[in-house]
Amino acid sequence: MITATTRTQVAVIGAGPAGLTTANLLRQRGVDCVVLEAQSREFIEQRPRAGFLEEWAVRELERRGLAGRLLQQAGQHGAFEFRFAARRHTVRYAELTGHHHFVYPQQELVTDLVAAYADGSAGDIRFGVRDVRLHDLTGDSPSVTYTDPHTGQSHRVECAYIAGCDGARGVSRRHIPAHESVFASHDYGIGWLALLVEAPPSADGVVFGIHPRGFAAHMARTPQITRFYLQCPPGDDPANWSHERVWQELHTRLAVPGAPITEGRIVERQVLDMHNYVVEPMSYGRLHLAGDSAHLVAPIGAKGMNLALHDAFLLSAALTAQLRHGDGARLAGYSADCLRRVWQYQEFSQWFADVLHGATHADPFHARMAEARLQRLLSSPAAATAFCELYIGKL
Ligand code: APR
Repeated sequence: MITATTRTQVAVIGAGPAGLTTANLLRQRGVDCVVLEAQSREFIEQRPRAGFLEEWAVRELERRGLAGRLLQQAGQHGAFEFRFAARRHTVRYAELTGHHHFVYPQQELVTDLVAAYADGSAGDIRFGVRDVRLHDLTGDSPSVTYTDPHTGQSHRVECAYIAGCDGARGVSRRHIPAHESVFASHDYGIGWLALLVEAPPSADGVVFGIHPRGFAAHMARTPQITRFYLQCPPGDDPANWSHERVWQELHTRLAVPGAPITEGRIVERQVLDMHNYVVEPMSYGRLHLAGDSAHLVAPIGAKGMNLALHDAFLLSAALTAQLRHGDGARLAGYSADCLRRVWQYQEFSQWFADVLHGATHADPFHARMAEARLQRLLSSPAAATAFCELYIGKL
């Protein structure tokens, strides 16, 4: 039985980068919203995820007054390194494109966005909600129901639109009937062991190690924390990766003479099965998906958080045009506008994944193709520029 009803213009499901950015921008533009988040505030402010923001996304956050702490604290990267055959090859993408990455852990951005929304502008955000369900998506008055974790009571949020920003494992996407959308997906058949390590970075930027034993990567996060990845079988058990085995593989796959890898305590180990998907269209009736709920890109080129922000910028502008000015054109084009960048990033990630994993490909033809791509990237400034524009998201 429903015991409390709230009326708002937009119900935002999920308080990740997509949901929180959407909510902040709606509120700034005078559109009323309620955010529903399954986890606690403390949990989302500490959950380690992505960490690389592309410059166009940072500039847009800055324009909206949401990048204050980010601009003070984030490191900037403009180059990365390939390491293979015991040699280093630096790609200076900022020189080729004029754009940088900002290195800022996702949980820090989430912390800033929650503070701006909940504390800075007294936005309505409800944490720990259970049993979220969406109703009447194709009618004029959709709603969202949930259970309050403290009282066990059922609540209904009545709204004009729903922003489904609840990530890869959320419920929003599942409310779109199968025959109303296409779920396009690709499985690489590869796992990455993702490690967070208490150690300072061993290089200024990102290092991609291409090695016959498997791909490995180093990504600077903060002066104290570094992320590493090791290619492994999909579904591998992280318990198979002892401290000794991890460091032996990282040294073998990444270290080159004069550039050692600094060891540290491993604070997180998980195996990611590399796969991508896109839900198309991203809209169904009054529901509009944003971020990982609509598309997943394996963390090959650090694209997920940037795409989540891109969707949020477009969705907040489209909902504002509709709700404040009665102009529905942007909302009608929302899915197509998002998907142009989504598919460019998917294509880039697939291309790059083939290069990074090429050395272990069972088919020697594929392995040599990957090598040829890498050689071209490293020998032709035109090829390097085309690659770097996609790498930094300058479309
Ligand atoms: N009801 C309410 N909230 C939910 C539900 C639900 N049923 N299911 C999930 N959530 C919440 C999650 O707890 C999370 O806080 O939705 C939020 C989704 O946030 P993200 O997973 O961060 O997704 P998104 O905002 O699209 O950002 C994409 O996140 O996973 C990373 O690397 C990815 O950088 C990318 C970014």
